[in-house]
Amino acid sequence: MKLKIIKITKKHIKEAHQIYNYYIKNSYSNFEEKIISHKTFYDNYKKIYLNKLPYLVALDKNKVVGIAYLNKFREKSGYRYTFENTVYVHKEYLNKGIGSKLLKELINISKRNKNIKKIIAVIGGIDSTGSIKIHKKNGFQKVAIFKKIGFKNGKWIDAIFMQKNI
Ligand SMILES: CC(C)(COP(=O)(O)OP(=O)(O)OC[C@H]1O[C@@H](n2cnc3c(N)ncnc32)[C@H](O)[C@@H]1OP(=O)(O)O)[C@@H](O)C(=O)NCCC(=O)NCCS
Repeated sequence: MKLKIIKITKKHIKEAHQIYNYYIKNSYSNFEEKIISHKTFYDNYKKIYLNKLPYLVALDKNKVVGIAYLNKFREKSGYRYTFENTVYVHKEYLNKGIGSKLLKELINISKRNKNIKKIIAVIGGIDSTGSIKIHKKNGFQKVAIFKKIGFKNGKWIDAIFMQKNI
């Protein structure tokens, strides 16, 4: 595999969206219960782009095998230095180091933006071992566990918050 990590462009959106929807349907890492439309996914991309926040894709040849980006953590102005990260790796490419590399690059780019000072990972509490591992490896610390605050597929799910100060 020849892995490349670059800024996302419009031509990658469709494959990125497929990866995202796969994890809505097949995991508890995302608390959406129904897959999202292309428009919703695209609007989120546009918002990130307009806010000058990082949005990366990992490519194997020209295939999108992972995505990582930052969104605002909350809208209220006092949170303006705080962002929430997202990272997803294509199901056929797990455990090859891609998630960790994406996160590392996301942090490196964030360091060049003086408005990014805190990054929060919000991790669903079921099958979270891989996610916790890549965040720890990249300097995140577990700061909170919200008990059974998500509800999906008839189950109450914890949310683990991990934080990195940039
Ligand atoms: C979390 C995720 C991005 C990690 O990506 P990845 O490319 O598989 O991660 P990496 O290969 O860099 O690292 C995963 C590590 O966790 C380990 N791991 C993964 N699943 C594991 C499990 N069930 N039990 C124990 N260890 C596990 C791997 O062995 C690897 O460890 P290593 O660094 O010692 O080799 C990917 O699993 C994913 O997309 N998951 C679904 C969505 C998700 O949870 N996203 C995060 C939302 S915050």
